[in-house]
Amino acid sequence: EYLVAGKLRNWNGPFQEVLSPIGVQGQPTVIGRYPLQGEEEALAALDAAARAYDHGRGSWPTCGVEERIRCMAGFAAGMKERREEIVRLIMWEIGKSLEDAGKEFDRTVDYIVATIDALKNLDRLSSRFVIEEGVVGQIRRAPLGVVLCMGPFNYPLNETFTTLIPALIMGNTVVFKPPKLGVLLHRPLLELFQSCFPAGVVNTVYGSGRQVVGPLMASGRVDVLAFIGSSKAADAIKKQHPKPHRLRCALGLEAKNPAIVLPDADLEATVRECVQGALSFNGQRCTALKMLFVHRSIADLFVGRLCTAVNSLKPGMPWDEGVQITPLPEPDKCGWLTELIEDAKAHGARVMNAGGGEVAGTLLRPAVLYPVNDAMQLYRVEQFGPLVPVAVFDDLEEPLDYVVASDYGQQLSIFGRDPRQLAGLIDRLTNQVCRVNLNSQCQRGPDSFPFTGRKDSAEGTLSVSDALRVFSIRTLVAAKGTEANRE
Ligand code: G3H
Repeated sequence: EYLVAGKLRNWNGPFQEVLSPIGVQGQPTVIGRYPLQGEEEALAALDAAARAYDHGRGSWPTCGVEERIRCMAGFAAGMKERREEIVRLIMWEIGKSLEDAGKEFDRTVDYIVATIDALKNLDRLSSRFVIEEGVVGQIRRAPLGVVLCMGPFNYPLNETFTTLIPALIMGNTVVFKPPKLGVLLHRPLLELFQSCFPAGVVNTVYGSGRQVVGPLMASGRVDVLAFIGSSKAADAIKKQHPKPHRLRCALGLEAKNPAIVLPDADLEATVRECVQGALSFNGQRCTALKMLFVHRSIADLFVGRLCTAVNSLKPGMPWDEGVQITPLPEPDKCGWLTELIEDAKAHGARVMNAGGGEVAGTLLRPAVLYPVNDAMQLYRVEQFGPLVPVAVFDDLEEPLDYVVASDYGQQLSIFGRDPRQLAGLIDRLTNQVCRVNLNSQCQRGPDSFPFTGRKDSAEGTLSVSDALRVFSIRTLVAAKGTEANRE
């Protein structure tokens, strides 16, 4: 089924099967299917969203903040009732541990509640009157129009909703294409979208990017692109808009966040943070630590402890108690990661931990690669998987040069103790990335903190409150002190 113009419709066309990475005995197994739609369905969804917005005449943009908050609160309440079903689908579709899938769900509901609170504050601040040079002005936050919303496979619920929810609550209407890996888990929410929001406010479309995203963008009628995924895909999508200057974007893209480990770092705490930072959800996070630079004086000691910590992580199936490494959902991912390992080995690195890089079904045992250098693909490529590259530095300018030369600019971590040295580094590095983490791993949360990136890593800032601004525009009602206005 799919949702268009307030109606849940049955699909009579072709379907794409959905493979679970953890199916039978760890081998990918079909667990469902989704419609393979095309231009006609994409444009029907777009028409419905455009009608519901209707450039100011639809009810959703004009119904008022209180009504939109009421709808959203009803949606959050309905979501909670579907927790178990959705959490299980997250697990089956992307192999996320049951515990982490539960956290993703809860974080998403918290995000909606926080968004409602943030809007109440924003609304209080934004509809104020100002008088300047004899002109009375009322500044309002107005929606932007139709948003095309697409999320990633690694947080198929949470990251999708960190754009979908603020877009909706600000009065925009949405065409929503769920991620191909993480598509089934949105099915239980379709009735809820239908019952909580007016017809046409949320519309779904399924299928390949070429078949459905292409026609949507080429129509020139998408006002905002909300996309979380690869930088290359974002570029390709944006280019299809006939007037790119009209298109606003909220993009969460690739990153290659490095850690810089200084000689005086607390080794135990650093190893702990680096392991979590590099390998939570198998390293499949845009915020993951994807390159570790360690000072030569402690490098061997650090790598030894790192390997011990990495090998203590529990591999298994996502429903296993305490599991930390699980099967990878992307087709052929193990093969590609193995190629990266082989390339690193061919250029002088070794897999340092016993069993690192071994593949069983779709599960790849985390591999610590050392010493990594710039001849290897792994040095610059975003692995988005359980590979931990470690490079050695003698001069601190070496990792700093890496940061400056990188195509990415999301976050980094520095591990060390000398406050003066850290202060100097913070001043330099906040000019290169958007978050500097001191003695801690890179991460997105807390969700009230700004989350963005420079260069190829992001466009727009997506904290709870910043996202409300991303999906709206400040407009002005102005009245001069004329006879007519005196009335
Ligand atoms: O994949 C990118 C996510 O936004 C990362 O979020 O740091 O909370 O895991 P996280």
